[in-house]
Amino acid sequence: MKTRSISGLSFVFVLLFSSSWAASAQNHEDFLQCLSLHSQNSTSISQVIYTPNNSSYLPILQFSIQNLRFMSSDTPKPTVIVTPLHESQILTVIKCSRTHGMQIRVRSGGHDYEGLSYVSELPFVILDMINFKSITVDTETSTAWVQSGSTVEAAEMILSPYGGKMDEISEYAIPFPHRAGNLYKIQHLVYWEEEGEMAAERHISWIRRLYSYMAPYVSKFPRAAYINYRDFDVGVNKQGNTSHAQASIWGTKYFKNNFNRLVKVKTMVDPGNFFRNEQSIPPISLWRKKKGD
Ligand SMILES: *[C@@H]1O[C@H](CO)[C@@H](O)[C@H](O)[C@H]1NC(C)=O
Ligand SMILES: *[C@@H]1O[C@H](CO)[C@@H](O)[C@H](O)[C@H]1NC(C)=O
Ligand SMILES: *[C@@H]1O[C@H](CO)[C@@H](O)[C@H](O)[C@H]1NC(C)=O
Ligand SMILES: *[C@@H]1O[C@H](CO)[C@@H](O)[C@H](O)[C@H]1NC(C)=O
Repeated sequence: MKTRSISGLSFVFVLLFSSSWAASAQNHEDFLQCLSLHSQNSTSISQVIYTPNNSSYLPILQFSIQNLRFMSSDTPKPTVIVTPLHESQILTVIKCSRTHGMQIRVRSGGHDYEGLSYVSELPFVILDMINFKSITVDTETSTAWVQSGSTVEAAEMILSPYGGKMDEISEYAIPFPHRAGNLYKIQHLVYWEEEGEMAAERHISWIRRLYSYMAPYVSKFPRAAYINYRDFDVGVNKQGNTSHAQASIWGTKYFKNNFNRLVKVKTMVDPGNFFRNEQSIPPISLWRKKKGD
């Protein structure tokens, strides 16, 4: 009797599991078909699409993973990786991702400390900007246009943001708000070689203790943070439904008062919150709706 009920249960489980697997496989197929249907040239887009079936899928995925914690076999993997050669292919990926409920992760150098540019808990596609690395320098206007796939090794135009030339730019002119008045930007960083979850926990817990230890000596109200040293410990969006109040806890660390202006921009350009991740700026409509007005 007991055995029968257990096997009945596992049968139901297998049924549920395999039907959701079939649905997601179908969704992947539909997504790929959408890419080829909506691109100007289906031959050329097929040359920049990698699914787990392509032998170069793993090498491409791993090529710019800089944090080995996200290289493990149980790290969620993208359904598809696209390495666009042309802007129109980026539009196609966005269109099809919206239609087929895929998240988009945009990867440039792959250095995001929390792996946000190539990991997502929801089904996702990586838009890998590796082919967009042109650097144009205009000496007359003293400006440089650097495409996002460029890496620092290629650009070597590393800015030291506090004070200096950056201080001539108003902190409200660009999202990045930190200027002179901060003595140093501290990067809390730990490397280890031992493998396994236990070693990872031990080292991460050590760096968390160091971070707490520093609290009396660093900026306060809020304790500021640098978005390029991303840190989920300062807070994350929950399924994109995070309230403005919750998001401002970490948003003001990264953006100070610019956070509220970024929320306004977000509400204008992406009210449905399609482009989102664990630390994206939430639009205002979501929390209004939640409050019921
Ligand atoms: C489509 O792309 C392929 C491969 O890049 C190219 O050989 C072909 O000429 C393109 N076709 C058109 C109509 O542009
Ligand atoms: C990956 O495989 C698909 C067929 O499964 C093929 O259409 C596509 O061109 C391959 N991608 C690359 C980059 O070779
Ligand atoms: C991958 O290959 C399997 C069998 O070779 C096939 O059934 C499946 O449709 C392929 N998936 C994609 C996304 O090309
Ligand atoms: C978040 O919002 C979506 C869409 O409005 C909804 O389907 C989902 O249940 C919400 N999740 C939570 C945790 O409230």
